[in-house]
Amino acid sequence: MLKIGMLTSGGDCQALNAAMRGVIKGLHTKTNDFEIYGFQDGYKGLIYGNVKRMTPDDFSGILTRGGTILGTSRQPFKKMRIPDENGLDKVEAMKSNYHKLNLDCLVILGGNGTHKTANLLREEGLNVVTLPKTIDNDLWGTDMTFGFQSAVDIATDTIDRIHTTASSHSRVFIIEVMGHKVGHVTLHAGIAGGADIILLPEIPYDINKVTEVIEKRSAAGKKFTILAVAEGAISKEDAKLKKKKYKAKLAERRFPSVAYQIASEIEQKLDKEVRVTVPGHTQRGGSPCAYDRVIATRVGAAAAELILNKEYGYMIAIRNGETQKVPLSEVAGKLKYVDPECKMIQEAKTIGISFGD
Ligand code: F6P
Repeated sequence: MLKIGMLTSGGDCQALNAAMRGVIKGLHTKTNDFEIYGFQDGYKGLIYGNVKRMTPDDFSGILTRGGTILGTSRQPFKKMRIPDENGLDKVEAMKSNYHKLNLDCLVILGGNGTHKTANLLREEGLNVVTLPKTIDNDLWGTDMTFGFQSAVDIATDTIDRIHTTASSHSRVFIIEVMGHKVGHVTLHAGIAGGADIILLPEIPYDINKVTEVIEKRSAAGKKFTILAVAEGAISKEDAKLKKKKYKAKLAERRFPSVAYQIASEIEQKLDKEVRVTVPGHTQRGGSPCAYDRVIATRVGAAAAELILNKEYGYMIAIRNGETQKVPLSEVAGKLKYVDPECKMIQEAKTIGISFGD
């Protein structure tokens, strides 16, 4: 009898349910001899023993459903070794709940922070298999995470809709796309949506370069300019600050986010009307796109094979279009950034897209 615990952790995204369905279908096709335990709301459920016995039927009919049927929460890795308000040792509590249920392994679906904790649990002797989720696609070791393409589609749709209203009104529009540390979603949606300027955390911008582009477009008779700006876009000046100083500066910023700050700077420098659109969490909502359903199902099925072979301590990645197991020790703690020198950026520049640098 195989006893499997499962949890989804960190920010949700599309295709989490599709991936869990892939795991359970992959197991169920081979054997009936397993039990599934679903921990509620991510690591919180594992810490506090909030767990539900589940059946393969619970994972049926959820391929297209957004969110996660297990619920999720953010449990920062850096706080895992700090006891909770009642003095509970979280790591020991997770181990104890795992052993109480006599689990053979834990299937953990998550992004960067989740993988750090998954690796910690592996180091503490638990059997762990992980799946790469996040709209940010910033997880090291995999070319693709599920959720990313769905978020890109939504952000692109937002830019498409803004295009029509921007052209009617001769305005500058800024669409703020999710991604605090990395700009993959912004880069892809910006190119797909035909943005004129794309600002990413990885390529600090100069506001004068941004306004130059807008002016040049006006001089060329273009009535509007569209900017796709990542949540974590940063000016050249701010990029020089020490992390602590930059954080303190952000805490005092009088704008709700970077897009509004850039909008105000453009309005101060140019005689232009600027509007901001923030699609926010809609980028993580709704049904997964077909591509995400496919990769989530594939990584789920590949995880089922690992579990049946009792191979633990791996994340299932997508590399060169194929599923591949990658040791968790290699994945944990590394972010996959946009490479400012990559071909995609060069090609975007070739067609005249500005990165404000
Ligand atoms: O990590 C996914 C993500 O959507 C980021 O793009 C975004 O910066 C962050 O989560 C938002 O987090 P929360 O849902 O906790 O506000």
